[in-house]
Amino acid sequence: MKLRVTTLAATMLLAMSASNAFADEALATAKGCMACHKVDMKVVGPSYKDVAAKYKDDAAAVDTLVAKVKAGGKGVWGEIPMPPNPAVSDEDLKTLVTWILSQ
Ligand code: HEC
Repeated sequence: MKLRVTTLAATMLLAMSASNAFADEALATAKGCMACHKVDMKVVGPSYKDVAAKYKDDAAAVDTLVAKVKAGGKGVWGEIPMPPNPAVSDEDLKTLVTWILSQ
């Protein structure tokens, strides 16, 4: 009985973390990010896997990138600018950037 409960809890945890990944991608879609970005392919902007690889050793990356996405900018990945995203809340930006950095 105890084992069954543990298995159930583990299954629920797995299901929850999987659905979180979908929720984060849905948020990125809802906020228009996926119009220019894909997880594993460069489109207008860099792929999120490339972004995650670039900043993997940068402890301040979440704050830097939240500010960058909010204000927009260019020059890190090329001359095409990312437009500012002032309508996205800081909380959503943090969720999005944390998700991007985990790709
Ligand atoms: C109109 C196209 C476009 C949209 C919409 C867009 N981006 Fe970008 N994004 C870009 C481009 C182009 C770059 C590369 C900018 C550069 O070279 O500095 C970029 C860069 C980035 C980077 C890396 C920044 C850096 O300095 O390394 C992150 C993170 C990012 N975008 C996240 C987002 C998120 C989150 C959203 C949605 C809220 C979003 N982007 C919406 C085009 C876009």
